[in-house]
Amino acid sequence: MNRNSIAGQLTTKWAARHLDYRLQTISTQEDAKALVLAGAPHGSLVVTDDQTGGRGRGSRTWSCPPGSNIAMSLILRPALALPQVPALTLVAGLAVSQGIADLLPAEWQDQILIKWPNDVVIRKRKICGILTETQLRPDGSVDACIVGIGINVRQTMFPEELREIAGSILSQTGIRVGRSALIASFAGRMEEYYGVFAAARSFAPLIDRYEKRLINRDAPIRVLDPAGEWEGTAQGVDESGALIVTAQDGTLHRIGAGEVSVRGLYQYTD
Ligand code: BTN
Repeated sequence: MNRNSIAGQLTTKWAARHLDYRLQTISTQEDAKALVLAGAPHGSLVVTDDQTGGRGRGSRTWSCPPGSNIAMSLILRPALALPQVPALTLVAGLAVSQGIADLLPAEWQDQILIKWPNDVVIRKRKICGILTETQLRPDGSVDACIVGIGINVRQTMFPEELREIAGSILSQTGIRVGRSALIASFAGRMEEYYGVFAAARSFAPLIDRYEKRLINRDAPIRVLDPAGEWEGTAQGVDESGALIVTAQDGTLHRIGAGEVSVRGLYQYTD
């Protein structure tokens, strides 16, 4: 993977057209923040092969060993109000999952799943995590969203504590996809889905497509609400990207993306 191999496969108008490839960096998320402050345009992408201090959601870290995975951060300058931003993370999850599916044979098409809001899962292992961060202007309006994406492409060894949770495209399918091709494929789908989302200013036109990949659909889940965990059945998502859950007493709840996490009842997804 290098700058030319990625740029040479892009089919987009704006996504990843400003491409900043770094052999090694601490975190593409921090690099993207600096680029936002320097005025980087909508669609700018920072990519590295070797991310030494990657950040995950919450206070977790994100490992990206050199030579096998993708760490990248996409800068978006959306004309959106703050409440519409969480849905962007679902748009990105959908673009990664479809971008992967586009490179795989027919038998894998319906096995690239999404654990709400945006973990990409293949055969019960998380192969991609997404961290979306928003920079506001002094007046509180949205200046930029930085969508940080880590995709495990060819990693085969995982630390003991992640073995039941994490995998890679290779470990889960046996297929080696090219990293540059995957970045280009993601960029194409992101441009397409972002266009649909931005035109509607709503996730509504993408709901059907998203729910086809939603691993939690009609499944029992545990809602990890800091105010108290509870169990229910996920129904699907709404036009803001919130997860619709029926609690055991039959009441309907909408869980905003970014507010709380959900799990399967017994494991990461099940
Ligand atoms: C998660 O915890 O699931 C989200 C992981 C996000 C990791 C990506 S890798 C590229 C970007 N740079 C970072 O430091 N983090 C994100």
